[in-house]
Amino acid sequence: MKPIYKIDNLSFSYNDKKQIFSQFHLELDLKKITLLEGANGSGKTTFCRLLAGLENFFSGSILLDGVNISKLSINKISENIVYIKQEPLANIVASTADEDLFIWQSKFLHNETETFAKLRKEALSKFKMKHAKDAPVWNMSGGEIKRIALSALLLNYNKYWILDEPTAGLDKKSVGILIDIIQKRKNNGYGALIVTHRIKEFEHLIDIKMQIENWKIDRIR
Ligand SMILES: Nc1ncnc2c1ncn2[C@@H]1O[C@H](COP(=O)(O)OP(=O)(O)OP(=O)(O)O)[C@@H](O)[C@H]1O
Ligand SMILES: [Mg+2]
Repeated sequence: MKPIYKIDNLSFSYNDKKQIFSQFHLELDLKKITLLEGANGSGKTTFCRLLAGLENFFSGSILLDGVNISKLSINKISENIVYIKQEPLANIVASTADEDLFIWQSKFLHNETETFAKLRKEALSKFKMKHAKDAPVWNMSGGEIKRIALSALLLNYNKYWILDEPTAGLDKKSVGILIDIIQKRKNNGYGALIVTHRIKEFEHLIDIKMQIENWKIDRIR
């Protein structure tokens, strides 16, 4: 096993009355597909936020590829992982799909090139959104925005993916496209953490199943 995350003694609460996690240990395997389930409000999104370095006031330690996450900048963290948020629009920072995907690429290259434009087109095509590449995001449906957010995964193919409810709001065809991408990627040795209530959709590609209960995450398979 090659852990991408190693979590020790993690406790987290939003305030005095609202404990979310209490002193638990966990490792996430870089190459495995890990599914995380749990009731509404049990802390799944909070866990993703902790892994993405978006919550600072926790106790215990979270190591990302062996380095304490508290010591890493968001830029450094995003060199290792990509986090697709539950709320579709929360993933979009630009006004069009093409601009948004360009921002993902601009970390690697500061000037636009034909190759990079082609990669964006291919990513949007995969999720059947190429036709809307220059349309304003604010006129799109929730499912369409989710498909743009998921297109960004294809530009970040070799990172560890943290997907919070990736199929929520997607039609059947789009779910199939996503599952197919995750399956192919798994065959190439890349893992992901998938948070979902729709376990059936992912059942055949899960290596490890985890559950949040009583302020802890436990492996149940
Ligand atoms: N910023 C915040 N401040 C205070 N409480 C919060 C905050 N964000 C979330 N919570 C609370 O923390 C708990 C866990 O929320 P979280 O969003 O992690 O749940 P979840 O398991 O992802 O739920 P769902 O299945 O509905 O997506 C909830 O009770 C929620 O109200
Ligand atoms: Mg959630």
